Amino acid sequence: MTEKEENVLTVAMPKGRIFEEAVALLRKADYSLPPEFEESRKLIIDVPEASMQFILAKPMDVPTYVEHGVADVGVAGKDVMIEEKRDVYEVLDLKISECYMAVAGLPTYNPQADISPKIATKYPNLASEYFRQQGEQVEIIKLNGSIELAPIVGLADRIVDIVSTGRTLKENGLVEMETMMSITSRFIVNPVSYRTKSGQIDDMVNRLASVIEKERAR
Ligand code: PRP
Repeated sequence: MTEKEENVLTVAMPKGRIFEEAVALLRKADYSLPPEFEESRKLIIDVPEASMQFILAKPMDVPTYVEHGVADVGVAGKDVMIEEKRDVYEVLDLKISECYMAVAGLPTYNPQADISPKIATKYPNLASEYFRQQGEQVEIIKLNGSIELAPIVGLADRIVDIVSTGRTLKENGLVEMETMMSITSRFIVNPVSYRTKSGQIDDMVNRLASVIEKERAR
């Protein structure tokens, strides 16, 4: 390992809907991130003046990069943390990208008539665990996106998915049936990095925590 690599803190960022809010939070915490963050399609962005490197990953993959230590820290949704169960420390609730997980389906859904319940979701582990706890036997159908399509075309009776504004459900004629849990983004840390780069990581956690504190007080 070179001297540079030892000193550089690698941050895994989730591309997609969390990204903008996460970048805004970092900027408020005085990290001067270059404009190419939003503008380019680069997946690795170096910020040498801050001794930082950012890797831009799919949200579901952020804990994987952090668990394997190719990123020291990262930003991941609580939904992803529950689904992926990776060996990482979850050290701070960033209180951004607030949404919730829900069970939804067509308004005509009749549980009594549903003899072999099928649930479509991007979150097979989370959904299985939920229905197991509810004592309901279901078949889980894993999809990678556009989950709301499943009940409309008859692939599954119900879905387990994230609800943010509720617009996707509404525009596709679906209704929410159960609210499962609220979700926010978390700051996660690789356990080894937490020891070897404790100074940089503690500094980052403190700066982020103080921004979150200020935002809450407003
Ligand atoms: C997410 C989620 C819902 C939608 C909810 O999908 O899976 O489909 O957002 O947001 P809303 O309540 O504000 O409408 P995303 O846009 O991330 O894409 P995906 O369908 O590919 O998962």
